[in-house]
Amino acid sequence: MAIDVLFKNGTIVTDFSMYKADVAVTGEKISQIGIGIKPDTKTQVIDCKGKLVLPGAIDAHTHLAMPFGGTISSDDYETGTRSAAAGGTTTVFDFILQDFGETFPDAIKRRDVIAAPQAVVDYSFHLAVKDIENKLLYTMEDAVKMGVPSYKVFMVYDFGVSDGVFYQVLEHSKHIGALIAVHAENSDLVTYLTNKYINEKKTSAWYHYMSRPEFVEGEADERAIQWAKATGAPLYIVHLANKQGMDAVKAARAEGYPIFAETCPQYLNFTKEVYKRPDGLNFVCSPPIKGKDSQVALWDGITDGDVQVVATDHCPFLKSEKKWGAKDFRKIPNGCAGIENMYPYMLSEANKGRITFSKAVEVCSTNVAKIFGLDHKKGAIEVGREADIVVYDKSKRVTIANKDMHGALDHTIWEGVSLKGYPVQTWSRGKLIFKDGKFYGSKGAGKFVACKPIKLKSPDLGSM
Ligand code: URP
Ligand code: ZN
Ligand code: ZN
Repeated sequence: MAIDVLFKNGTIVTDFSMYKADVAVTGEKISQIGIGIKPDTKTQVIDCKGKLVLPGAIDAHTHLAMPFGGTISSDDYETGTRSAAAGGTTTVFDFILQDFGETFPDAIKRRDVIAAPQAVVDYSFHLAVKDIENKLLYTMEDAVKMGVPSYKVFMVYDFGVSDGVFYQVLEHSKHIGALIAVHAENSDLVTYLTNKYINEKKTSAWYHYMSRPEFVEGEADERAIQWAKATGAPLYIVHLANKQGMDAVKAARAEGYPIFAETCPQYLNFTKEVYKRPDGLNFVCSPPIKGKDSQVALWDGITDGDVQVVATDHCPFLKSEKKWGAKDFRKIPNGCAGIENMYPYMLSEANKGRITFSKAVEVCSTNVAKIFGLDHKKGAIEVGREADIVVYDKSKRVTIANKDMHGALDHTIWEGVSLKGYPVQTWSRGKLIFKDGKFYGSKGAGKFVACKPIKLKSPDLGSM
């Protein structure tokens, strides 16, 4: 078999090991891994001596061009996925908000028409459930057959679902190979606390945090887990940001329930103190960033395996839009950017010694593929998988600056954060799309990737 590209003399990182070997790519796939693989006359040889060779990250949680908070998130499928590529992310899972009365397959078709001509890297979707009336519930199965088996229910926002709908969707999911994800916060408490602070004229970004403190999220996590246990369905908690919820996830997993948790880099690197900064409104997201105890619990969760995924919840809004809420935190569009920063940040934390490189690969790539049914294609440097490959330079130092990012946003909450090591090349299905700060990809080259139906029966992803 002819070798098109050969990554020579690098150190391959898997979710459990690191070893020196060459990686050969034929067409869009990894065709050989071994020592001393010989190039053909036409092979492009990439010298990876002293570098790490990693699977591209899979961002399990993005909101591209999403109508939200009175506007539309500022990265579309082109700028968002270009930014992803520049940070070593080669697949994104983007959220589709179902319209009321819309079938789930129609929601996928409506969104794919926009994504397909724009995406630079591969993409898949999760569906956010608004409406299951009039037999719409039963169209979930059709979406699973189209390769979209993951659903998110919101316990908050004006389109959040009732407890009864959440329970029903959970019950249904296990019969059709679907996985339900949840945004867990107690909506009634958010409403009460928000009104209380507004009436007291406490309107700064700090009161966004104060109206959604630790227990508001923790209680909802506990409730969601209770229903998952009652129905026997697996559950994936998105953007987990608090210790109480982390403890609940840990306990349920120890009892053998298939409960999974995702956290985000913003919860790992910042604490609630950011909301007191003059630019605190730029950090407004829901759930809000919590205190140090929660941050420590989330890092422990990553180390212990109780947090399986780190994803961005990339939902960028312009500075001018964030400023709508300068005098009223309710008007700040909720969401932060991170699509270009996640993999570099997690790998830098590995390079600084907080976690292993294998752990960074596991939570940013391999586990995402396993949980969402993509492990036949993505998530590992393995023969037969698609050649989504990142070359990482451990010695490169980068201080994050928005001017060096590749998306459409005019600021970043990551400004000034120092990273040790950085992805220097990104390859998508065997094609170079990013190298040394320069983008080589093309709009529309990213393809929709269909996921397999999801059958998570135990908390252990190794023994599915
Ligand atoms: O603040 C956030 N997280 N915005 C995006 C929507 C969501 O809840 O994931
Ligand atoms: Zn959410
Ligand atoms: Zn989100």
